[in-house]
Amino acid sequence: MSDQFKALILNQEGENFSREVKSIDKSFLKHGDVTVKVDYSDLNFKDGMILKNGGRLVKEFPHIPGIDFSGKVIDSENSKFNEGDEVILTGFRVGEIFFGGYSQIAKVNADFLVKKPESLTTKEAMILGTAGFTSLMSAFAIQARESILLGEKVNDVLVTGATGGVGSVAIMALTKMGYNVSAVTGKDSKSDYLTSLGAKNIINRAEFDKDPRPIDKGLWDGVVDTVGGKILANAIAQTKSNGIISVCGNANSNELNTNLLPFMLRGIKVWGMDSANCSIKRRGFIWGEAKNLIDFDLLEKSVLTVSLEELIETYPKILKGEISGRVLVDLNK
Ligand SMILES: NC(=O)c1ccc[n+]([C@@H]2O[C@H](COP(=O)([O-])OP(=O)(O)OC[C@H]3O[C@@H](n4cnc5c(N)ncnc54)[C@H](OP(=O)(O)O)[C@@H]3O)[C@@H](O)[C@H]2O)c1
Repeated sequence: MSDQFKALILNQEGENFSREVKSIDKSFLKHGDVTVKVDYSDLNFKDGMILKNGGRLVKEFPHIPGIDFSGKVIDSENSKFNEGDEVILTGFRVGEIFFGGYSQIAKVNADFLVKKPESLTTKEAMILGTAGFTSLMSAFAIQARESILLGEKVNDVLVTGATGGVGSVAIMALTKMGYNVSAVTGKDSKSDYLTSLGAKNIINRAEFDKDPRPIDKGLWDGVVDTVGGKILANAIAQTKSNGIISVCGNANSNELNTNLLPFMLRGIKVWGMDSANCSIKRRGFIWGEAKNLIDFDLLEKSVLTVSLEELIETYPKILKGEISGRVLVDLNK
C-alpha cells in the first residue's frame, strides 16, 4: 500500500456536518502506539448516531469514526504487540474520542487491543463486532443463572429487538446454549429469518409496547433486552423467579418505568451490559468462545458487506430500525 490510504472523515464547521471518504497519510493519525492495517469494520447503532451528527460523542473534528475493527499489526511501539499479530478492537471509545476503524490504517492504544483467537478470522470477528460481542456477554449473563444459583436450569429466554445486530446474534448463541428462545420483533416479514437463527416463538412487538402490569404471569428465565422503554418494563413484569435480565440497549427508549414487585416477590436480577469498557481478560474469554456459539455460515447469509463509500448510503437505515442482521465494512472493497 502506498503512503496514502482511504478513510471516512467526519467534519463539522458551524452548522455544516460532513462525511466524506478521503485519501490521507499516517501523519493524520494522532492517537495510540500500535498501527494496524484494517481488514474489516462494521456498523453498530452507535456508529449510526456518530455518522449522523457525531451523536454528542465526538468532541473534536475532523474525526475518523468506526467503533470496531479487525486487522493485522504493521507497526508497534508497544512490547505487547508485534508486526503480524492479528487483532480485534471493540469499544474503549475508539471511533468516539479516539480515531476509529473506518480507515484502511488505524492507530490505537495497545491496551485496547485483543489478540484474535486462532479459531476466528478477522472477517468473522467483525461479523460479530460490538453488537455480537454484547450478545455473547448477555448470553453468558443469562447462563450465569445456572452457576450463580447453583444449578437452577434456564429454559425460556426472551430476546427483544430480535432482528437487530445484538438481538439476532443473541438468538443464535442462546439457542446454542440449549435454551428455548422467543423473539420480539416489529418486522412480521422476518419470522422465517428469526426461526432460522433458532427462535422457537415469534412475538409481535405491539404485544410488549403497552403499559405493563405491576407483575405479570412469569414466563422467562432470562431476557436479553436491546430496546428499553415499555418493552423492557413488560419483560421485567413477565420474568420468572430468580430470572436474569440483560439490559443492553435503548433502540426504543432510555426510559424505564417499573415497580418493585418483580424484584421483591420474584428476586429477579437486572444486569447492565457495558461492552465498551469490558476488561481485556473478559474480552479474551468471550472472543475465545465465539466459535462454539456462532454458526458463521448461517450468520453470513444475512450480512450486508459494504465499502466505506457504500456505508455513507447505508448508515441511516440502522437509525430507522431497518437493518436485519449485521453490516460488515470491507476496507479493501
Ligand atoms: N450496552 C452495550 O455495550 C451495547 C453494545 C452494542 C449495542 N448496544 C445497544 O443495543 C441496541 C441495539 O443495537 P444493535 O446494534 O442491535 O442495533 P440494530 O441492529 O439497529 O437493532 C435494533 C433493533 O431494535 C428494534 N427496534 C428499532 N427501533 C425500535 C423502536 N423504536 N422500538 C422498539 N424496537 C425497535 C429493531 O428490531 P425488530 O424490528 O426486530 O424489533 C431493530 O432491528 C442499541 O440501542 C445499541 O446502542 C449496547
